Amino acid sequence: MKVQRFSKIGFILAAAGSAVGLGNIWKFPYMTGEYGGGAFVLVYLIIIAFVGFSVMIAEMLIGALGRSDTVTSFEKLAPPNKKYWKLAGFMGFNGIIIMTFYSVVIGWIFYYLYSLLRGLPTSTDQAKAAFDNLVGNEVLAQIFFHTLAVVIVGYIVYRGIKGGIERINLILMPALMLILFGLLAYAMTLDGFKEALSFMFEPKWEKLNSEAFVRAVGHSFFTLSLGMGAIMTYAASLPKEASITKTAFIVTFMDTLIALVAGLVIFSFLFQFGAKPGQGPGLVFISLPTILNNFGTLGIFFALLFFLALAFAGITSAISLVEPVVQYLIDRFHMTRTKAVIFISFIYWLVGVGAILSYSNAWGKIFSIGGKPLFDILEYTTDSILLPLGGLLIAIFVGYVMQKSQVKAHLQTFNEMNPTMYRIWYFSIRYIAPLALLFMMLNLLGVIEL
Ligand code: PFF
Repeated sequence: MKVQRFSKIGFILAAAGSAVGLGNIWKFPYMTGEYGGGAFVLVYLIIIAFVGFSVMIAEMLIGALGRSDTVTSFEKLAPPNKKYWKLAGFMGFNGIIIMTFYSVVIGWIFYYLYSLLRGLPTSTDQAKAAFDNLVGNEVLAQIFFHTLAVVIVGYIVYRGIKGGIERINLILMPALMLILFGLLAYAMTLDGFKEALSFMFEPKWEKLNSEAFVRAVGHSFFTLSLGMGAIMTYAASLPKEASITKTAFIVTFMDTLIALVAGLVIFSFLFQFGAKPGQGPGLVFISLPTILNNFGTLGIFFALLFFLALAFAGITSAISLVEPVVQYLIDRFHMTRTKAVIFISFIYWLVGVGAILSYSNAWGKIFSIGGKPLFDILEYTTDSILLPLGGLLIAIFVGYVMQKSQVKAHLQTFNEMNPTMYRIWYFSIRYIAPLALLFMMLNLLGVIEL
């Protein structure tokens, strides 16, 4: 059982800290670049508004009513003849799978922060060679920075809800926003800004294919931290007086805003010097540092700020990926927090080392399955399969399994959601969200084609 409670602002920042992560600053911009800009952004925004936001409310509701780890919350809220729903609570373990590669990427960011001090690359080739060298050859450096990420994240989670998670979010989230909005203010003075605006907000429909649609659904879950019990676990410590609807709205809004700002900043810089947007995952690690070199010393300063923001975003999300399983081990196995953190950290650290090796030139073959590096398998499985599956289970549970009266009473009476809004939300959670998710999963499995 949870005893500690967040403060109101602490909860908002912690949930936003979970949502705003590498997904916003690293992944969203490169996906937008790859899938042609405006049309992808529009689909993403529509899915966030009609599916993501509803599922966010549903996840918070399960947490706030269950007040426990994910497994126990599902068990408590399921009707007596449907206690097997507690199995859905194992979605909390998705976080650990995500952490296996998420902490490797945080490690890369740490590495960049350190190596940027020596100057920026002067050409894309040089930047690409440096990145390829890091990923392909610098196994030990990667393991070192991955370990550093695991230790920092582990320490914060070990300090618990109030002294660790709330406290760090109260510091890092405002700092992150300050940096990003500062960079945006500068980006707005560049000619590239106009181009960035039109790239991101003028839909080019011909670029939108079914893959882009499926990736937009998957990413909307990833970016909002949905479908794996992170928001649910935090909501178990929701302060009594906090409104779920309002909080969910603020968190969704902040997450979306920051993704858009990050995109605008990166594309303004890129377009300013005529670089192409569709660079894939290397966008932030290869193209951005090269482009920033054009700004001289100021460029190093921008790059440091940017990677610092990225590190902050990564850390505040990472702690929310680890906390659900830690809470589960504490509740169900009566482990101490210290033991639970050490145990879980060791497991994902180890698999993370496998993910690092899977990209390396020397070990890549051994750590690949069917020609696919372990890193990619872990990322694809979580982003495209497990999170949407978790989202589907949450929508079905709240929409069909939980007692209707309990859902309504909590959201409408206790949280003062207005009746029309409640009807729209309920419709979305029963029909729109499950259909969109099912559609996406069937499409992924090749059962249906868009
Ligand atoms: N939302 C985070 C991001 O955008 O990087 C990633 C994430 C955190 C996914 C927590 C899922 C989660 F439960």
